[in-house]
Amino acid sequence: MAGYLQDKVVAITGGGRGIGRATALLCAAEGARIVIADYGVAMDGTEPTSAVADEVVAEIVDAGGEAVAVAVDVGSMDGGEAVVSSAVDTWGRIDGAVCVAGILRERMLFNMTEDEFDDVIRVHLKGTFTVFRAASAVMRKQEGGGSLVAFTSGVFALGSTSQANYAAAKGGITSLVYSAALGLDRYGVRANAVAPVARTRMSANVPTELAENGDPEDVAPMVAYLLSDAAADVTGQVYTAVGNKIAVWSQPREERAMWTEGRWTPQAIEVCLPGQIGVNRLPLLDKVKEMRAAAAAGERPNT
Ligand SMILES: NC(=O)c1ccc[n+]([C@@H]2O[C@H](COP(=O)([O-])OP(=O)(O)OC[C@H]3O[C@@H](n4cnc5c(N)ncnc54)[C@H](O)[C@@H]3O)[C@@H](O)[C@H]2O)c1
Repeated sequence: MAGYLQDKVVAITGGGRGIGRATALLCAAEGARIVIADYGVAMDGTEPTSAVADEVVAEIVDAGGEAVAVAVDVGSMDGGEAVVSSAVDTWGRIDGAVCVAGILRERMLFNMTEDEFDDVIRVHLKGTFTVFRAASAVMRKQEGGGSLVAFTSGVFALGSTSQANYAAAKGGITSLVYSAALGLDRYGVRANAVAPVARTRMSANVPTELAENGDPEDVAPMVAYLLSDAAADVTGQVYTAVGNKIAVWSQPREERAMWTEGRWTPQAIEVCLPGQIGVNRLPLLDKVKEMRAAAAAGERPNT
């Protein structure tokens, strides 16, 4: 019986562990041919090894599937190109590119070093750009177009107290997805983002009890759907996937506006703003206060 993704060629960055691995195993079981692109690094991005990608390829092949490994750093242009050329050289095309690779360097903003900021932006945001760029250049010219899937996080909209670098990268990824969806629509190439929550080594590091959690295997089906022809009309979306819940995020837009004759002055803004357009309070601002109190009392706070 043909699989849900039969014969599609799909490259998955970060496919060696966690959510990327679970996605790769499901897509392979559904008939896709898989590039496992994983640099095999520790959570902070150091100590690369090719063993991590090789192991998942062996798992897929042992189960009767088709896969190749590429142990490159997707934060470099060469790395992104190697991911895509590995698919094209092996199977002649690339139908899906899933950018899951990521690292964490947590620190309060006022203590964060330049390297901690740059490395996180490079792996997440540039690492999505390098693969999207190389993949879309092939997809736009091939029969059937293609599907790009990025990994963001709820922090793209909600913020994060000690992960300004990570939240900024995830915000950038979401904007990249909107722009990719707009620019590539005429070529039959779609772009969407998944905001997951799942028990992996990355989420184990979060110093709070997560209100919702699940396993990497709970996230994989949403990616498989986005890669499939059934999602031909789905582009420019952000979907949460956690446990047995899937949710769609709103498209950010202006909510309220005010106008004046001529040009605004600061004094006139001071008078008009509170009553006319007001403030949209950050949803987590009050929560952060509760979390600080819980931490001070020696408890593990809830998010
Ligand atoms: N786990 C969660 O709850 C959660 C929540 C929100 C967002 N996310 C996002 O989901 C994605 C997957 O997270 P995970 O929890 O499975 O993480 P993970 O640490 O289990 O896996 C990440 C993989 O990416 C690889 N990688 C890191 N840097 C790389 C690079 N430069 N080039 C190639 N590969 C590289 C690592 O070797 C690792 O195998 C990430 O983008 C993460 O930010 C996860």
